[in-house]
Amino acid sequence: MQEIKERLVQDLKSATTAEQVEQIRVDYLGRKGSITTLAKSADFSKMSVEEKKSFGQRLNELKNFATAEISAAVEAFKASAIRRKTNDLDLTAPGKGRRLGALHPITLTQMELEDVFQGMGFSVLYGPEVESEYFCFEALNIPGDHPARDMQDTFWLKNQLILRTHTSANQVRTLQRFGAPIRAIFPGRCFRYEAVDPSHENTFYQCEGLVVDKNISVANLIATMKTILSQVFKRDVKVRLRPGYFPFVEPGFELDLNCLLCGGKGCPTCGDGWIELIPCGLIHPEVLRHGGIDPKEYSGFAFGVGLTRLAMMKFGIKDIRYLNCGDLRVNEQFTTLV
Ligand code: DAH
Repeated sequence: MQEIKERLVQDLKSATTAEQVEQIRVDYLGRKGSITTLAKSADFSKMSVEEKKSFGQRLNELKNFATAEISAAVEAFKASAIRRKTNDLDLTAPGKGRRLGALHPITLTQMELEDVFQGMGFSVLYGPEVESEYFCFEALNIPGDHPARDMQDTFWLKNQLILRTHTSANQVRTLQRFGAPIRAIFPGRCFRYEAVDPSHENTFYQCEGLVVDKNISVANLIATMKTILSQVFKRDVKVRLRPGYFPFVEPGFELDLNCLLCGGKGCPTCGDGWIELIPCGLIHPEVLRHGGIDPKEYSGFAFGVGLTRLAMMKFGIKDIRYLNCGDLRVNEQFTTLV
């Protein structure tokens, strides 16, 4: 028995695979295994009661020992198999990428405009998208029967409030709240009842601007616009003013930008070398009065940048509908450009 035990220990030590351990189990504990054979071949008739008892006890101990040692070896092989599998990890394999979010092209353009204006001492203010008729129209010299209302049809809520059609709605709000002198811009989302096509959307962005102080003239307006646009387009730009009509400015203008693509010679994008970019003008005395400002003491200018339009120009986006479509591939293209 001692000899069998020692052999078993040796055999288990030299086993290198789980299959070999299984073979050892068969060799010792199987039907023809050495321990089983030993038990069968014992001639009990020649033994005394004492000898039988002692033999049986030692045989049991040997069986238990063999069973325990073999199952311990099996467990050890299982554990090392798992360890081997883990070691198979290929650390050079490409990982599961985590996608970085990206800012929307309009957000990027808005952030840049805010930066430039803040650098010139403007405050950045945000007004409500749900607005009253008064701030959106009446306070801007557009009474209920004015034809300008037709161009800015919008969504009416049941409580008589509306979705604002332009960021100009912030002009009188701001004047009433902060008075003069003031320099501020109001970027934000606007809404109109619009048939959607490549250049029209029912939801779009503008950035309104306002300066009220003593002795503000058209010269201040032109200089400010030129400086801003040169910074946005990162080069010296040429601008021109044409007369334009808006009920809340007098005189009112269309500010055109000398085409950056053709340098003003004329091309398919601009036509005659100029791109209509920013409607603007000197604030109408009636609007100043609504804002609680005395037009004899103060004057000012206002302008409305089409933020959506500017983003489309800046990033070469040809269809306005991409901007609201919610497809992240739109955003992902532009982040690195800034
Ligand atoms: N609010 C006008 C629009 O949405 C644009 C505009 C025109 C704004 C002239 C101004 C301005 O501040 O002076 O069509």
